[in-house]
Amino acid sequence: MAGLVEQLLSLALAGTMMISTGLDTAAPHNDIEGVLFLQNRQWRAGSAYIPELRRANMTGKVREMRDDAATALEEMAADCKAETGEIIVSVSGYRSYQTQATIYQRKVQKVGSKARADKYVARPGASEHQLGLAMDLGWDDYQGCSDKFPRSKAGKWVTENCWRYGFILRYQAGWEDVTGYQKEEWHFRYVGKEHAKAIYENEMPLETYLILLRQEVLMDIVLGVIE
Ligand code: DAL
Ligand code: ZN
Repeated sequence: MAGLVEQLLSLALAGTMMISTGLDTAAPHNDIEGVLFLQNRQWRAGSAYIPELRRANMTGKVREMRDDAATALEEMAADCKAETGEIIVSVSGYRSYQTQATIYQRKVQKVGSKARADKYVARPGASEHQLGLAMDLGWDDYQGCSDKFPRSKAGKWVTENCWRYGFILRYQAGWEDVTGYQKEEWHFRYVGKEHAKAIYENEMPLETYLILLRQEVLMDIVLGVIE
């Protein structure tokens, strides 16, 4: 009898462990060191978070990114030059919590209210730039953030090909209610090649993709436990 109870207990324990391991896999948006960490109005890493960074080897300012993102960006910049003859330039990569606070404050002063500023600039602690996974890009002729980026030769190429290198165009027209921001033709977010391809092909914001991914993984866990 005691043996049976022990067996049942160890089975229950194994099941619980399987489920909790599965739930970790199903929550990549919580993994700060992963490529899918979700940083937006609702989800924030906190003011203390500083990733390990390195300077991407390319033309431009503020070139610090996480190593995996910097490597992908360097490859993309080199291939862009080879394919189009034009260069892309870094405008703004990693931004600390403090830097984001300054940028946000400046925007509030410029547009006159927090409600207006919120459409364009993330509050400190809510920007993907703090993760070291985002880069704002310009090109030879305009080394700032511009809606004209996709109309330049280099910008058009990057917009069409960024997913091959693991980047997504994060804020697009029509997604404002989901992402919380106006479209930004220049803001690219690194998520790794596999996810970037899926997000590009399905034409969806990262928020939506993460919900679907979680549902898929949870379904696998449930089926795995039941079978
Ligand atoms: N402009 C984007 C939303 C940021 O501030 O991170
Ligand atoms: Zn940006």
